[in-house]
Amino acid sequence: MNLSEFLKKAEDKGFVKVIKEPLDVNLEIPHIAYIEVKKDNSKILLFKNPIDRKENIKYDIPVVMNCFANFEITEFIFGKHPDRIAKDIEEILHIKPPSSLYEKLSTLSKLFKVKNAFPKRSKKRGECQEIIYKEDKVNLDVIPILKTWEKDGGKFITAGQIYTISIDGQFQNLGLYRLQKLSKDKLIIHWQIHKDGSHFFNEYKKAGKKMPISIGIGGDPLYFWCGQAPLPPKIFELLLYGFIREENPILVKSITNDIYIPHDLDIVIEGEIDPNEFHPEGPFGDHTGYYTPVENFPVMTVKAITIRKNPIYMATVVGKPPLEDKYMGWATERIFLPLLRTTAPDLIDYHMPENGCFHNLLIAKISPRYKGHSKQIMHALWGVGQMSFLKHAIFVNKDAPPLTDYYRIAQHILNRLTEKSFLITEGIVDQLDHASYEELVGGKLGVDATGGEVEKTVEVLDDETVFDMIKELDPDITGLKQYMIETANPITVISVNKTKPVRIIFEKLKKFSRYLRIVIFVDEKDNDLNNPYMLIWRVTNNIDSLHDVWIEEIWGVDATGKSEIDGYKREWPEDVFCNKEVIHSLMDRKVIDVDDEFLKKFQIIRI
Ligand SMILES: Cc1cc2nc3c(=O)[nH]c(=O)nc-3n(C[C@H](O)[C@H](O)[C@H](O)COP(=O)(O)O)c2cc1C
Repeated sequence: MNLSEFLKKAEDKGFVKVIKEPLDVNLEIPHIAYIEVKKDNSKILLFKNPIDRKENIKYDIPVVMNCFANFEITEFIFGKHPDRIAKDIEEILHIKPPSSLYEKLSTLSKLFKVKNAFPKRSKKRGECQEIIYKEDKVNLDVIPILKTWEKDGGKFITAGQIYTISIDGQFQNLGLYRLQKLSKDKLIIHWQIHKDGSHFFNEYKKAGKKMPISIGIGGDPLYFWCGQAPLPPKIFELLLYGFIREENPILVKSITNDIYIPHDLDIVIEGEIDPNEFHPEGPFGDHTGYYTPVENFPVMTVKAITIRKNPIYMATVVGKPPLEDKYMGWATERIFLPLLRTTAPDLIDYHMPENGCFHNLLIAKISPRYKGHSKQIMHALWGVGQMSFLKHAIFVNKDAPPLTDYYRIAQHILNRLTEKSFLITEGIVDQLDHASYEELVGGKLGVDATGGEVEKTVEVLDDETVFDMIKELDPDITGLKQYMIETANPITVISVNKTKPVRIIFEKLKKFSRYLRIVIFVDEKDNDLNNPYMLIWRVTNNIDSLHDVWIEEIWGVDATGKSEIDGYKREWPEDVFCNKEVIHSLMDRKVIDVDDEFLKKFQIIRI
């Protein structure tokens, strides 16, 4: 199923919204997609007439965004529920030698699924090579590459499947990394230090050799999902594609290098990387909802662009949740449960809420069998593959409410916490994490809520009374809101107009420890104390538990932005916001149909 076939099928099911109005690749198209995917039951968007007003370009290639627009469409792309795929994986992992004819047949059918996983190499040209631009015909301007955010360093390919090969030619890798357009034939590749593409690149750099690379865009949307799948190094992600589709992926050789790519992609950009050529990349409004700062990354020189007839350019938008990665992440979470269990066998289930930006928050159900068991599993998760980027992990026992029933699970957790529930340690963090005081390493917070209910010792007063009481303590305090007051450990969120480290305010609050248990500080600017969804996003993003979590008479969490006054020496990033004029113009032109309440709810524009 190529992208056009997929879109036809999706259109028949009413999953696609076609937009014919000419719209700009700079901000307009990405802003529309950003807003659409935040709606309930959002749709795939097909922009038929992309333009670049500034550069005076009218593109021939349409743009499709939000292919993973909601749960139903995601399941449609996979062709089955992700839990079904997880079950198939679990069965393969537990294959035992068959002892009866029935068992032999059943084992055979399971192995047949594995056989289908292996990519097949075709000797023919692929559909993706119907039109070929080489040498001086290479021009990235034929592709409607988007500029998502106002302060982005330029235009970025956001749904590029990066195909690379190890220096000995033994292993291929597929990873999803963004690419910044530098010129008509140069792209900067943002593979982070922990990723397989970057590991391959280091082999070439060490040998002083140029690295071949092919970038696929479009084709079956499942390729895009496979690109982000956190498989271990040296396992080609298209094996997972074949396993899920139950048919071998068909690959063809790139025109200018030995990398094999899916035959039915829409666009392929082939090239090479000189291991000594780097360029500052960014800033880019990232999936954390913050801009990642400028940093040097390798440069790719494009040698060929090959496309199918009537191609479609696929793109995605990242920023503040919820976005397409909510649905892609859901599938990843479900499908990887059995693989995670190979490291942590007593893990019953887990969930990574999208407003915790996945690596910032995990809630897991376990079946503890001995003292310290949950702490053992915390360490296991912090040591396995990309799960080691995880910053905050909360463990509950198997009788807890469903992990996606957020209110009840929060109640359950808060009713089980004591000072002994917390483990704070250090480990690796995502290269995008801005909260850690040092790049790449930072705090890890594990919370063990697997025990029984605890007694409530805190006395609850209403918000106004507590605020009147504490605002006298320090002029930085500007607001207060309490959450989960019915539980043993209520949460008090305090906003500040910060002029000094909030640790100083925290010390003063101890005087009122009778009325306070968990106190979370946020900046007054850009936070809404009545918006718990966005507060969770903010808090889990902004804390490095080694510095910002204090388990004392009160439990304090400093989720404010940090600077020199906190001893933080890195550049604290800005939030991403849509451009107000662009949003209002789209509203006036009736291209988007949302109200101010919606814009506020997801902090889409700065108020
Ligand atoms: C939309 C999207 C964009 C991403 N962009 C990047 C990126 O620019 N750099 C990066 O290192 N990882 C990025 N990732 C995460 C990687 O795709 C993911 O970690 C993947 O497992 C990497 O594959 P690898 O382990 O084979 O390198 C992105 C993920 C998604 C869903």
